[in-house]
Amino acid sequence: MSADDARVEELRRRKAQAIAGGGQARVSAQHSKGKLTARERLDLLLDDGSFMEVDPLVEHRCRDFDMDRNVIPGDGVVCGHGTIGGKIVYCFAQDFTVYGGSLGEMHGLKICKILDMALKTGSPVIGLNDSGGARIQEGVASLGSYAEIFFRNVRASGVIPQISVIMGPCAGGAVYSPAITDFVIMVDGTSHMFITGPEVIKTVTNEEVSFEDLGGASTHATKSGVTHFTAVDDEEALELTRELISMLPSNNLQKAPVLPTRDSIDRTCDKLQSLVPDNPKEPYDIIVAIEETVDDGAFLEVQSEYAMNIVVGFARLGGHTIGVVANQPNFLAGCLDIDASIKAARFVRFCDSFNIPLLTFVDVPGFLPGASQEWGGTLFRSAKLLYAYAEATVPKLTVITRKAYGGAYDVMSSKHIRGDYNVAWPSAQLAVMGAEGAVQIIHRRRIASSGNPEQERERLVDDYEDTFANPYRAASLGYLDDVIQPSETRSVMAKALGALLEKEEVRPARKHGNIPL
Ligand code: HXC
Repeated sequence: MSADDARVEELRRRKAQAIAGGGQARVSAQHSKGKLTARERLDLLLDDGSFMEVDPLVEHRCRDFDMDRNVIPGDGVVCGHGTIGGKIVYCFAQDFTVYGGSLGEMHGLKICKILDMALKTGSPVIGLNDSGGARIQEGVASLGSYAEIFFRNVRASGVIPQISVIMGPCAGGAVYSPAITDFVIMVDGTSHMFITGPEVIKTVTNEEVSFEDLGGASTHATKSGVTHFTAVDDEEALELTRELISMLPSNNLQKAPVLPTRDSIDRTCDKLQSLVPDNPKEPYDIIVAIEETVDDGAFLEVQSEYAMNIVVGFARLGGHTIGVVANQPNFLAGCLDIDASIKAARFVRFCDSFNIPLLTFVDVPGFLPGASQEWGGTLFRSAKLLYAYAEATVPKLTVITRKAYGGAYDVMSSKHIRGDYNVAWPSAQLAVMGAEGAVQIIHRRRIASSGNPEQERERLVDDYEDTFANPYRAASLGYLDDVIQPSETRSVMAKALGALLEKEEVRPARKHGNIPL
């Protein structure tokens, strides 16, 4: 063999070793759990043939615990860049077959390099997480690399979209970075996220809880709200990631992408004419209003199983990506509570960071009453949503379908916190509260002293409803830009958006605001 051949052979050998990861037995174990390997996942995530690997030959430099006898090139994470629908993305995929995907010093620094390149080039970054957390053998060096990642996640926040796909156990430090990123996608059944696992919990608090109950996808989708999307398997999770990327700009300096549509913006939404029931207490599904209004009825709902009294998600209107926020009368009558306010506030801030216009549907009877809400700090937690809307400078469109009561009226992208184009359907009621409650407070004495209290009460309720249970008082004050037929919602909103696309609004210079966290 010539010297050249030998050199080529060595390169081949080293690359083959990197590709083999932790070996066939561990790859088979990964497959038997229904999980794909890191490289198989990247193949599905990225456009065919677009992946370019970075750092396949990086090795750990730990010499404790006999680690020098087990050095695998790549160090348990496959990093690089590729394209999704032609858009450049940076990505890393942890390889569970190498030390359980645990994060040591060099593994962490590889991820840092990817985050740095993504930030420098203004490209989204996607992490495919499958990791036992800090690599125990590497001690504090591993914690150091974790913190380097967290720092970069924070620095990149609001500059490039960051997506975390959780595709296996993610324990300890492995969950912090995903928590800072913009979206978390979990795979049902095979992924778990927790800071301390069931065994530690049992030791410290004597509480018994299974892996699944503690940190499975269903728990995080319904109880904690940590996950934004749940997929049935790896394939679906990666497909969802591709769909999400297609909706987003690559960075905060770009406008949201436009996808031409055949769905005419002049299409009437006849179904919406009868969507709101005559009885103001009767619920209905606000998702019908969203799907009728947006292009091709396509709505990518975010956190669909958490705080279901508010709906958030992405859609397109006249081809433009928009973020939709809507009270859901079908759940808790669409009340705002702590969880709903936090969910929507974070979504509004994401959209504003990335120049995605907001379309808000309002049917809100107020804040959820209750001692637990007050003691839980609903006051400053619901203020997050108000703050997020008030701070947002993207085009803000608002449709009031029915109730817009009290402080919740102000919060939900009202004209006063700088909604750009606010309309109501004829069924809208803009008031401090519902008629029954209002009459009870302002006319209590009058009703009590009346010869026929019940009749007097009904008369006063009718009177209040004539005054406030309609959109016309607010329209006369200019708080609404117009009152429209429900069937016109798509065309009116699409045209309003078209006229707002070049909107520029500047807030006073400051280091950063102090949002009530
Ligand atoms: C080094 C690890 C590891 C780790 C797993 N492995 N976790 N190696 N450091 N943290 C190795 C195992 O030794 C094993 O190696 C292989 O990965 C697969 O692990 P198994 O236990 O066989 O797999 P499984 O049964 O699927 O269980 C996966 C697991 C479990 C749930 C992740 O391994 C586990 O609980 N690991 C420890 C989790 C943890 O406590 N991490 C530290 C958190 S503290 P072999 O050679 O046998 O294949 C932390 C602090 C950071 O992260 C804070 C930063 C702010």
